[in-house]
Amino acid sequence: MYSKPELALNYLKYYLSSSNGKGHGTHSPFIFHFITRILNNKTNYPDYDLVENLRNQLSKDKRSLDIEDLGAGSTITKASKRTIAAIAKNAAKPKKYGQLLFRMVREYSPATIIELGTSLGITTSYLSLAKPDAALVTMEGASSVADIAKENFKNAGLNNIELVKGNFDDTLTEVLNRFSTIDFVFIDGNHRQIPTESYFKKFLTKVNSNTILIFDDIHWSKEMENAWKTIKDHPGVTCTIDLFFIGIVFFRKEFMAKQHFVIRF
Ligand SMILES: C[S@@+](CC[C@H](N)C(=O)[O-])C[C@H]1O[C@@H](n2cnc3c(N)ncnc32)[C@H](O)[C@@H]1O
Repeated sequence: MYSKPELALNYLKYYLSSSNGKGHGTHSPFIFHFITRILNNKTNYPDYDLVENLRNQLSKDKRSLDIEDLGAGSTITKASKRTIAAIAKNAAKPKKYGQLLFRMVREYSPATIIELGTSLGITTSYLSLAKPDAALVTMEGASSVADIAKENFKNAGLNNIELVKGNFDDTLTEVLNRFSTIDFVFIDGNHRQIPTESYFKKFLTKVNSNTILIFDDIHWSKEMENAWKTIKDHPGVTCTIDLFFIGIVFFRKEFMAKQHFVIRF
């Protein structure tokens, strides 16, 4: 992963090269709608409070868990014992992004959703609340963390979530085989180049023209930037949006030529 100064420099480059989406080049009605009605939507949905209350509660939970480090690890610590509070603070996606995913699911109404990397289930809860009748599969390799996520889903009455435990390398193919197509995917675990490219290739076999893939931490390391480039360059990908901390991938057919947007968020 990049050092803090490298990341800061990268962020500055992103900031300077990004647009607010209102300028030239954003003529697609789909992208215009995405930016004005989803990205910049400031509505305070009541469901936000449910998830943020859960996050608050977990941020104070001093129970300690034994953790298997399966992926590229955490930016903060690689310790094998961590408190729930530390995981809630360091591993979960900040509310700004969880809420963006909530708005995307609410708007695009995907029938099938897959999340790689459940952790404590904070972002999963946003996805579930946004579309309670979607088939939502979330996958997590750290067993003790997955157990807490399960507890959270049960307490919140979120019953459209299936949590699949195990290493993605062992579990993803079986999960994908159950679906003819998948509409919405959040890839938030194992931030390394080869695994990320391999998950992308596996999901490619299940995309339709409305599928949305979201990759976390695309500028976190040189490896992730390489993976992001591979994804953008794939011929099936018609449009991407780089928000720095996440990258969004579309397969819609209406784009005349491939378009890559870097948008300030
Ligand atoms: C950044 S956290 C996910 C955060 C969660 N999406 C959220 O926003 O609340 C990444 C999770 O992926 C899990 N993970 C990483 N590599 C994995 C792998 N190869 N197989 C299964 N789980 C993995 C880690 O255990 C960790 O809990």
